[in-house]
Parts: sequence; C-alpha cells; structure tokens
Amino acid sequence: MTHIQTQALSHIPSDIVSLGDYERVAADFIRRDILEYINGGVADDSTLSANRSVFDQLKLYNRIISNFSSDSCSDNGNASTHTELFGRTLTHPLLLSPVAHQQLVHPQGELATAEAARAMNTPMIISTLSNTPLAQIAKTAERSWFQLYWQPHREANLALIKQAEDAGCEAIVITLDAPVNGLRNRAQRAGFRLPDSINEVNLMGLPQAPARELNPGDSIVLKGFMADAPNMEDLHWLRQQTSLPLLAKGVSHPADAKQFIQLGFNGLIISNHGGRTLDTLPASIDLLPAIRQAVGKDVPLLLDSGIRRGTDVIKALALGANAVCIGRPQMWGLAVAGALGVAHCLKILKEEIEVSMALCGCANIKNITPDILVNPPASIHSRARHLGDM
Ligand SMILES: Cc1cc2nc3c(=O)[nH]c(=O)nc-3n(C[C@H](O)[C@H](O)[C@H](O)COP(=O)(O)O)c2cc1C
Repeated sequence: MTHIQTQALSHIPSDIVSLGDYERVAADFIRRDILEYINGGVADDSTLSANRSVFDQLKLYNRIISNFSSDSCSDNGNASTHTELFGRTLTHPLLLSPVAHQQLVHPQGELATAEAARAMNTPMIISTLSNTPLAQIAKTAERSWFQLYWQPHREANLALIKQAEDAGCEAIVITLDAPVNGLRNRAQRAGFRLPDSINEVNLMGLPQAPARELNPGDSIVLKGFMADAPNMEDLHWLRQQTSLPLLAKGVSHPADAKQFIQLGFNGLIISNHGGRTLDTLPASIDLLPAIRQAVGKDVPLLLDSGIRRGTDVIKALALGANAVCIGRPQMWGLAVAGALGVAHCLKILKEEIEVSMALCGCANIKNITPDILVNPPASIHSRARHLGDM
C-alpha cells in the first residue's frame, strides 16, 4: 500500500502551479478509497472525461493588436474581471461549488475552505451535507450561498432555508440532479464507506424520511428514493419560502431550464455534478448554448463540471455563462495544505483568468464573446446575448 501523508502542509511546494498539480499531489494526502470517492465519476466515467475533453477541443483565438492601454480604446479604464450577479459584485466570475464531507480530507473541513474563500473574496456554496454547521461556515466565509438537498419533510427544508437566511447566505441553490446516488463504481471497487466520524450535522434533529413500506419485488429506487424527490408542487412551494435568489443546480435539458424560470427561479447552475450522477450525460459546456437560448439573455447561468483552467472559464463565459464554479479542486487544495491550499487554488485560477483574458484581447468580462472561439459549437446562440438581439 502506498504511504499516505497524514498532515497537510503549511507551505505550498514550488512544483504546484496549476489545479492539475493539486490533483496529482493530493493523491499523496488522501487515502485511496476516499480519493476514488472524490475523483471518481460514475459507471464508465464517460461524462467525467467529456467534462475535460470538450473544453480541450474548444480552441481560442488570441488577439495580438493590443488596445488595453490606448486612450482611444473605449474599454480603457474599465479593464477588470469584475462582474455582477444578483446585484452583487464578484471580483472574478468564480464561486466554490457545494462539496459535501470536507472533513474526509482535512480535520477543519469546510471551515478551512471558508477561510480560503474569505481570503480570496470568493463566494462559497455551502453543502447541506457539510460536516460543520452551516451558520459557522457562513460566518467564516463572509460571502456564501446555501445548497439545499431536498428533504422529504417540507418543514426540514424550511428549517434549513431559515438557518441559511439567518446566517447571511446570499442565495439558495437546490440541487436536483441527484435524487439517488449515481453508480459510483470506482468508490465501490475501492470499498469506500463514509466513516462513522463524518457527520451530516445540518440534518441532525430534522425530521427524516418516513420508512416506506414496499411490497416484495418493489424497487427501492423507483418507489422509495424517487417518491421523496421534489415534484413541481414542492418546487412551487419552495419558491414561496424565501425572498433570496433561488437557483436550480444540475440542469441539463433546455425544457427543464425554461420551467424553472417559469416557476420563478432566479438562475440556474448547468452541471452534471462533476460526472457523478448519470453517465453519458454531455459535458456541461456542451449544453450551455442551448440553455442560454432557451432562457434568454438575462437569466444568470452558472456552470460547473470540469473547470480547471482560466481558459475553461473564458470559454464558458464566451458561450453564455455569467460565472463558473469549481468542485474537486477544493478537496485537493484542502488535503494538501488546508485553507492555504484552497486559497492557492483560487489564486491560480483567478490569475489564469486574467492571463487568458489578456491574451484573447478581452479587457473586461463583457468583451468575452463567442468571437474568441475558433470553433464555437454549431448550436451557439449565446452570441445573441452579447449582441443584444434576442
Ligand atoms: C466529493 C464531492 C462532493 C460533492 N458534494 C456535493 C453536494 O453536497 N451538493 C451538490 O450539489 N454537489 C456536490 N458535488 C458536485 C459539485 O458541486 C460540482 O457540481 C462538481 O464537483 C463540479 O465538477 P468538478 O469537480 O469537475 O469541478 C460534489 C462533488 C464532489 C466531487
């Protein structure tokens, strides 16, 4: 068995300069079964690998006649990575995706991530399944959103939302693409089980799912778990429970996207859960243009799944996203160097966004248009968002 380094570092090794480096080095700090749980996709990892390969296949133009410093340049003076989301400014179009069970890789878990988020001025989306109470995380992070996994009792959902509101969370995200766990074959092969020491503290004391009486031969998936998944009425009810911006995460079908907006949701996170739910779903980035077309130019769209480079971020923005989120790199950074590691991941990505914008000739976020892509997908409609003709 390979030796696992148990203590996170208090410095950053000089050979870590990219999120990919964090992935490589994290393998020395995370027990193998836990690593398979974190890094794995589902079934044959088809979606997991598409999340990377589709970004790689999209090619960028560099623009080499600089207008950043020209007095006549209309963008002069507002060169910046700043963007607006729900009336608040983001210094970079980047957030931390909700990631459960962060104490699996570091004793401080989510609190260390929250420290990094605060230091790097990046909103953290707190998972329902955090191992630290959400109020404590929100206080440390300063800027946070809360991610809700639907609970079978409405009052449990309400209690979680109220806690999030009281803790100052700026938005509520309901994740809807995982009513049952995907086929986590890699974690299964490695014998992964959630250790007894890892607690879902936000759910403690809340009413749990009623025991379902199934007849012999009934499917626990279809008649059990899916019976607890939220339906249209539940989503309508949820919309009435908070005045905070409400987003649906896990959207892939344009028709679903439209329905959420009709229900009064304020934004969507296009995500395949990092390839962890239904294998052979397309890469999120592949779905983005059609969803932008379906919802129009004004609905905030975020995207995650596979974002590892600044170039990925500007490709997503070029295709119609307002911002992106990262998932696994949080766990890699945490495992290697705690809060310092996560902050370093964010710093790397933010600097990469700036370099990518500079080399593509984009002085600010509005300048990131489909024109920077050599081979935009045929279905692209996000151009209209930028040209304002939708
Ligand atoms: C270990 C792990 C735990 C996760 N926990 C949650 C969660 O609690 N809620 C949720 O909505 N998504 C969860 N996700 C999915 C992430 O929010 C995100 O969609 C995904 O990680 C993005 O892909 P990336 O890892 O390629 O960046 C989790 C992902 C991982 C890897």
